[in-house]
Amino acid sequence: MTGFSFEKLGQDGKARTGVIHTPRGDIRTPAFMPVGTAATVKAMMPESVAATGADILLGNTYHLMLRPTAERIDALGGLHRFMNWDKPILTDSGGFQVMSLAGLRKLTEEGVTFKSHIDGSKHALTPERSMEIQRLLGSDIVMCFDECPALPADKARIADSMRLSMRWAARSRDAFGDRPGHALFGIQQGGLEEDLRAESAQALTEIGFEGYAVGGLAVGEGQEAMFGCLDFAPDQLPADKPRYLMGVGKPDDIVGAVARGIDMMDCVLPSRSGRTGQVFTRHGVLNIKNARHQDDPRPLDEACGCPACRGYSRAYLHHVFRSQEIISSMLLTWHNLQYYQDIMSGMRAAIAAGGFEAWQATFHAARAQGDI
Ligand code: GUN
Ligand code: ZN
Repeated sequence: MTGFSFEKLGQDGKARTGVIHTPRGDIRTPAFMPVGTAATVKAMMPESVAATGADILLGNTYHLMLRPTAERIDALGGLHRFMNWDKPILTDSGGFQVMSLAGLRKLTEEGVTFKSHIDGSKHALTPERSMEIQRLLGSDIVMCFDECPALPADKARIADSMRLSMRWAARSRDAFGDRPGHALFGIQQGGLEEDLRAESAQALTEIGFEGYAVGGLAVGEGQEAMFGCLDFAPDQLPADKPRYLMGVGKPDDIVGAVARGIDMMDCVLPSRSGRTGQVFTRHGVLNIKNARHQDDPRPLDEACGCPACRGYSRAYLHHVFRSQEIISSMLLTWHNLQYYQDIMSGMRAAIAAGGFEAWQATFHAARAQGDI
């Protein structure tokens, strides 16, 4: 496929570092993708998101098809122009969001019908319609239309759901067509079961994709179970293509996933937490709402180069959070996204230098020390 390729630059244990080349620019891996669900990373200007070191954003078929609609975004020049972000965008396909957000829904072989969480209006998504919407948006990395069962579920239910997702993956591939410079990623399902994950990986590999996602995790199974699955799931996917773990996670989830061979991740956690006063630092999580910060002249993190840490004290950030000032969301979101991107660049450098074990030891030691 012209214009889209994955170049592996280094490997340390199972951890990989590389670059995904796209016509809209390079994506350095391991990559963390901030979530821009409704054509904005909430509380951030796009140039600020780029300044944190993000090479790619995630957008959502489900939200954008409902409002402002894919046809309107297309008429206005596509999602990049619409939201003023010219780097790569990956869009999720909608099925997962329908299951978690939409009202009354019905699943058939054909696809899913559902009621909008915004106004109750009725809509349908199929693999074909999801591919059309993601094309109208102008997405650079398109995700297959899939279904993800809530865990825990019995194995027969997980197997049926996974096989439906594999039939939908084949239909997604057909409907996507030939689009040089744009990529289609398959999504592995199969719950926590090694044999179902292997069957799913084989079905996807036979169809053939530009990248492969591990789906169906971080749905309430806990870190230990998720890592247990990631001990085998990435190895089942082609080594020469990017591997994307969907919807993960906390900083230590991300580090553990990269150690197990994952190249890309996305999560609302850093941006959403920025709006609820939860702050991620090298020393763990702190809540800026806590009264212990109200007289503290220190920054959130001495080592962070973000505007919140360079210009403001914990006391100020505590004050604007308590006062519900808009700048609170702006500064805390920037800091959290900066922290996540700093983890990613730290891992990329460590993997390239063959020092990822030592990097992980330092990462965990700083967290064990706690915020003092
Ligand atoms: N986001 C988090 N998990 C999933 C998944 O399994 N499928 C899709 N499409 N999106 C996700
Ligand atoms: Zn900071």
